[in-house]
Order: sequence, then structure tokens, then C-alpha cells
Amino acid sequence: MIVYFSATGNTKFVAQRLAELLEDEACDLCARIRANDVSPIDCGKTLVVCSPVHISGLPKFFSDYLKKASFVGPTVAYGVLTDGGYSGIAGHQLKKILEQKGMRFGGFAGCVLPGIHITSITNRKIEEEEIERRIRVTSEQLPEVARAIRAGEVLTGKRSLLPEVALTQALMPGLRFVGLRTRKFWVSDKCVSCGLCERVCPVVAITMRDGRPTWNMSHCAHCMACIHNCPKEAIEYGDVTKDKRRYTFAKYRYAAKGNE
Ligand SMILES: Cc1cc2nc3c(=O)[nH]c(=O)nc-3n(C[C@H](O)[C@H](O)[C@H](O)COP(=O)(O)O)c2cc1C
Ligand code: SF4
Ligand code: SF4
Repeated sequence: MIVYFSATGNTKFVAQRLAELLEDEACDLCARIRANDVSPIDCGKTLVVCSPVHISGLPKFFSDYLKKASFVGPTVAYGVLTDGGYSGIAGHQLKKILEQKGMRFGGFAGCVLPGIHITSITNRKIEEEEIERRIRVTSEQLPEVARAIRAGEVLTGKRSLLPEVALTQALMPGLRFVGLRTRKFWVSDKCVSCGLCERVCPVVAITMRDGRPTWNMSHCAHCMACIHNCPKEAIEYGDVTKDKRRYTFAKYRYAAKGNE
């Protein structure tokens, strides 16, 4: 079983492609996370957890869910991370969570895909060619990841050394405080009240009121699902997102080999 969370489709692509290659099933955990549904998931012998990297680690809402979740059957677990170039200590965190559940951790793979954190002032524009290149490279990487998982080999994603783990863990609360503040989402008149933003939010931070989304500032995990998936590009974050490209993997799926 391959389980995943994905805001814009990067991780969904990886999970679904691995499911095809492994002739297994990919399970989107978003609805379960939203409902806090921790009923057992039947997984077979091998579990593959696919996750984006948020602020040098696993998204907190996702790691919190994984800790509570009940995976039935697997003796070995792998991780596959998607990020914009730096996976931080996400692999280390995944290893810890899955080993605590009694599984043997078979390592993780990292896939570099387009960064989606457009509310961050440090987010830089990526050219179309670079987006396509990252998708192509990842799609070429996945058959080898699947082969290694099938063969029971160890995946050798970039390991974090202990000083990096200790430093990142110490800085994480501050980094999250600065990086994940939810003060400035707003919606423009382009909104057509479709409610998609509310439905894709993994932490139920959006409520539709009078046909418009409103944000619960203390709940938002800054996953970027709402802002990128809005079909009218009606969601903004202060003036940071003005004129920034909205991205979904689906718009670029043509660039992925083996996924036509
Ligand atoms: C809040 C937030 C923080 C992020 N932090 C990092 C990071 O520390 N390092 C990195 O390389 N990419 C980072 N990213 C980029 C995502 O990991 C990357 O775009 C990922 O592929 C998104 O996958 P998804 O669309 O499946 O959710 C961040 C994205 C978000 C939304
Ligand atoms: S997804 Fe966009 S158009 Fe649809 S309700 Fe949300 S803000 Fe409005
Ligand atoms: S409100 Fe926050 S957590 Fe919900 S979809 Fe938007 S960015 Fe993600």
C-alpha cells in the first residue's frame, strides 16, 4: 500500500506512479486526516509513505496523523519525499514514526519537484523549463525506486547527520512560527463560490460563508492546496502572491514520462 498527502499533485503523482509500477494501491489520506479517521488501513506486507517536505521536515499535520494511524499488515516501510531541493530531516522523522509502529524502515527516496510555497517571501520563481525538467527527472527516477522496493533493498535518500537533526529540531518551532503564519489570506472578486478550496484543505481551516472562503488562522498548515487549486486564481496572500504562478502538477503532467 502506498499512502500519501499532496497539496498540488506532486506527491500524488509520485504515489500513483509507484502504485502502477508496484501493482499496488495508492491511498490519499487527505479525507482521513480531515475527518481524523484513524480506523485501520489494510496495507499488505509493504507500506510506502509519500509526503511533501514542509519547512525542512514532514508537514506537522501529516506526521501527527501518521503517529495516530493504524496500518495493518506491513512489516517493512519506505518513505518517498517530494521537495523543492532540501528534504531536511523529513526522512529521519519518517523513520522514527514508522519504527515506533513496529515496522522495519527500508530507507527513503527524495524527489525534487517544483516548490509550491508561494506565500513565503523567500520563494523564487521557477522557469517553465525547470518545472518540466524536474518532473521529467522524477518520472525517470521512479522505476528504479519501485524496483528497489520490490527487491526489498534499502533506499538511500540523503541521510541527516545528528548535528543537522538536533539543530533543525531546535529551530523547527521558530521556523514554523515565521514560515507558517496565517494572517493574510484573502479572496478576490474572481471567486465563483465553487467551494473547492474548502474541500481540499486537509485541516478544515476553510469555511465557506456567504459563498466566500474564510480562513481559521490557527488551523491553517500552509500546505498551499487552496491557493494553487482555486480554478479562478482568486486566493491571495497579502501582496506576496500577486503575479506569482499558480501551480498544479496536472498542468504539467505532459512532462512526465510513463504518465501520458
Ligand atoms: C509550507 C511549505 C514548506 C516547504 N518547505 C520546503 C523545504 O523546507 N524544503 C524544500 O525543498 N521544499 C519545501 N517545500 C516545497 C514542497 O516540499 C514541494 O513543492 C512538494 O513537492 C509539494 O508537494 P505536494 O504538492 O504534493 O504537496 C515547502 C512547501 C510548503 C507548502
Ligand atoms: S476555490 Fe476559488 S473560486 Fe472556488 S470558492 Fe475557493 S476561492 Fe472561490
Ligand atoms: S487553508 Fe491552509 S491548510 Fe488549508 S488548504 Fe489553504 S493553505 Fe492548506
